[in-house]
Amino acid sequence: MPAVLFYSPNDSPVEWERQLREFIPNLDMRVWPDIGDPNDIEFALVWKLPPGNYAKLKNLRCICSLGQGVDHIFTEPNLPTHVDIIRLVDPWMAQAMSEWILLQVLRFHRQVPEYENLEQQCKWEVLPPPETSECAVGILGLGELGRDAAGKIATLGFNVAGWSRTAKIVEGVECFHGENQLKSFLNRTKILCCLLPLTPKTTGIINSDTIAHLPVGSYIVNAGRGQHVVDECLLRAIDSGHIAGAALDVFNEEPLPSEHPYWTHPKVKVWPHVSAQSNADSAARQVADAIGKVFSGAVPNNLVSREQQY
Ligand code: NAP
Ligand code: GLV
Repeated sequence: MPAVLFYSPNDSPVEWERQLREFIPNLDMRVWPDIGDPNDIEFALVWKLPPGNYAKLKNLRCICSLGQGVDHIFTEPNLPTHVDIIRLVDPWMAQAMSEWILLQVLRFHRQVPEYENLEQQCKWEVLPPPETSECAVGILGLGELGRDAAGKIATLGFNVAGWSRTAKIVEGVECFHGENQLKSFLNRTKILCCLLPLTPKTTGIINSDTIAHLPVGSYIVNAGRGQHVVDECLLRAIDSGHIAGAALDVFNEEPLPSEHPYWTHPKVKVWPHVSAQSNADSAARQVADAIGKVFSGAVPNNLVSREQQY
């Protein structure tokens, strides 16, 4: 049987091998860098494989991202052109992400930062109650994660819209698409949540121009990638009062450097890239299925478009 390469700084190879063997008992998994003969490898299950290594795997047929995002694969300068690129599409991760997005939306909507501030001053003060149906939540990205989050937030009675590249219909969600509709989407959004993939078209999408189209007092929630946000623009917008607060799970540099202003900013909440973690328990079955398909010459599920880079 051909071999599977495994590499991830975040995920346990022992746990993944154990889970994959439930479906492929004779699996030959090689953990980078101890991969033996590189010519044995036909399938790579990877998260951020150090650059320059794919081209050494002459018989590679498929690269599977150990996450839903694939931007770490497209940063490879020598990405072989003939291999399939696939990714995890895991309902467990969608549930986890929706919980995290809901947590941030509810925190801002229910004035948690304001009440925490009052509590710190031992002040008993009642703020005007928020109206859920008037709270406009906007989700950038209506894919596997964005659709799930948008639907769940809408179920609670929020006024939800989403923005995607191509036109979509999502029950209970006002759908915008394409660059021409981005401004209208931003104009009506009070809590902006980013669940876009990182591509050349979405890099830096949260910048001073786009922020200027959000109403004064809006909030920004980012669980896509750090590179979606131009940090200086966000910090300037918060300090000017245009943006009332931000919750960030992903950063331009990870781990976030200890001297970064986000850590200590009173209006920014920092999370260490944990909103939806990869989970061998829930995702091993689909990876095993993909390995089986690739080794038997069939086309695996969850193929990524090389043209769109997501
Ligand atoms: P997906 O299913 O590929 O969905 C991507 C969505 O973004 C689609 O709706 C797509 O539009 C839209 N989009 C892409 N490029 C666009 C553009 N130029 N303009 C407008 N819309 C655009 O991705 P997913 O599985 O939901 O995951 C999204 C991202 O979440 C991942 O790529 C990753 O970066 C991030 N993520 C983060 C964590 C975490 O723990 N923080 C965990 C998992 C994933 P169409 O529908 O028209 O194609
Ligand atoms: C995590 O960030 C992922 O892309 O799965």
